[in-house]
Amino acid sequence: MGRMSDAPRSFATAQVQAGFTAGVAENTAVPPIHQSNAFEFGSLREARDLFALRRDGNIYSRAANPTVLVLEKRVAELEGGIAAAAVSSGQAAVALALLALAKQGEHIVAARQLYGGTVDLLQDTFADWGIEVTFVDQDDLDAWTSAIRPTTRAFFAESITNPIAQVLDVRAVADAAHRAGVPLVIDATVATPYLQRAKDYGADITVHSATKFLGGHGTSLGGVVVDLGTFDFAAEPGRWPQLTEVYPRVPEGSLIERFGATGSPFIALVKTKYVHDLGPSLSAFNAFQLLQGLETLDLRVARHSASALEVARFLEAHGAVARVHHPELESSPWRAAAARYLPRGASSVFAFDLHGTGDVEADFAAAEAFVSRLRVVKLVANIGDARSLVAHPASMTHSHLSPAQLDEAGIAWTTLRLSIGLEDVRDIIADLDRALAGAPSAAAASELAGAAAR
Ligand SMILES: Cc1ncc(COP(=O)(O)O)c(C=O)c1O
Repeated sequence: MGRMSDAPRSFATAQVQAGFTAGVAENTAVPPIHQSNAFEFGSLREARDLFALRRDGNIYSRAANPTVLVLEKRVAELEGGIAAAAVSSGQAAVALALLALAKQGEHIVAARQLYGGTVDLLQDTFADWGIEVTFVDQDDLDAWTSAIRPTTRAFFAESITNPIAQVLDVRAVADAAHRAGVPLVIDATVATPYLQRAKDYGADITVHSATKFLGGHGTSLGGVVVDLGTFDFAAEPGRWPQLTEVYPRVPEGSLIERFGATGSPFIALVKTKYVHDLGPSLSAFNAFQLLQGLETLDLRVARHSASALEVARFLEAHGAVARVHHPELESSPWRAAAARYLPRGASSVFAFDLHGTGDVEADFAAAEAFVSRLRVVKLVANIGDARSLVAHPASMTHSHLSPAQLDEAGIAWTTLRLSIGLEDVRDIIADLDRALAGAPSAAAASELAGAAAR
C-alpha cells in the first residue's frame, strides 16, 4: 500500500531512492516498468489470501502495480506521510480523497480560490451526488468556522493557489478543521513537498496533480493522495463508519482494525473501494515517467522558483503591467505568509494583469495580442513543465466560473497565468518584454475605457 520506509533520509536522497530496493531477478538499478495487467499466483491459497487483503501482494494492475507502488512510497516519504495512493490524474486524486471522506448528505468546506477543474468537480458533480460544498474565502478564518455543519467531513484548500499564487495560512485552517473534528486536505500540486511539507503545519492529507512539478516534463498525467498519518479517525468512530465499521471487503472487521497499526486505513479505503470500483488507475509507464521526474524535484523547483521571482520583479517594473500576483513581492498581501510557509521560495506559477478597460472583449483582445507575440513562452493549458507556459484563466482553465466566482478568485479578463520553466531566465524575460511592447499602457487603457463609456 505504499507505506514509507522507517529509515530517515534527507529529501534529495529520498527523491532518488525511496520506495525501491533492487532485488528483483533482473537486478535493475532503476525501478522497472512492470507492464503487466495481472500477476501470476503461486497457488490458489495465495490468491485467496491476497484477495482477502490478508497479505500484501500483486493481483491486478487496476488495484496495484509494482512500479506504481514505488511512486507511492516515494511521494509518501517526501511528504512525511505514512502511505499514498497513486492514481491516473490530479483530478482523480482530489475526487477520490474527498469521496473517501464525505458521502451523500455530507458536507465539505472548500476554499473558493481553487483550480477551475476542482471547482467543476465540487459544485457540479459532487452536487449531483448529494455531497454539499460551501466555498469560503481562504483567508477568512471566520468563514471557515461558520461554514461548519454537523455533517461536515473535510476542509479543502490549495497551499499555493492556481493561478493567483495566494499562500494559505495552513496552520490556522488546520486548527479550525481540527476544532470541528475533521481533517484538512491540502492540494499541494503547486507547492510540492520541496517547497512545503503541509504536515509540518497541521494538514492531514495531501493530494497532488503529479502531472505538474512532480513529473516536471509535461509528458505524463498522474495524481497522488497521501495520508500524512496525523488525523485520528478512531477518536469519533461514529463519524467515520467507512473506516470504523465492518468493511465487507476484508474478513477481519473494520479497515481501522485491519490496517490501523501497520498502514493507513484511509489509503486502504481509497484503493480497495474507490480506485477498485471507479478504475482511475495509474499506468506503470506513467509511474515510471513520474519517478524519473521526481529524481530531480529539488533541483528543478529551486530553479523554477528563482527564475519566477526574477520574472515577477521584471514584470512589476514594466509600464504595461498593472499588477503582479507573486507572493514574494513586497506588494503582495501574502508576503508574510510566503515568508512563513515557503522559506525555500514561492512557486513558479503566478499571474499578472495587463491594464484593463473593464470591457471583456477589449481586455480579451489585449491578452490575445500579448500571447500572440510570445515565442519562448508557450500557450499551453498546463503548469509545472520544464517549458515556460502562459494561459488566460478567464477563457481557459477557469472559463466555467461565473463572473462573480472569477471576481472572488481574483481573476480578471486581463489576468495571465505564467508557469516559469527551466529555460535561461534572460530569454524568458526578453520574450515577455517583446510581447509587452505592444500592450496598452495605463493611460491608453483608461482612454479606451473612457471611450467605451461615452
Ligand atoms: C492545483 C491543481 N489541482 C489539480 C489539478 C488536476 O490535475 P490533473 O490535470 O492532473 O488531473 C490541477 C490541474 O491543472 C491543478 O492545477
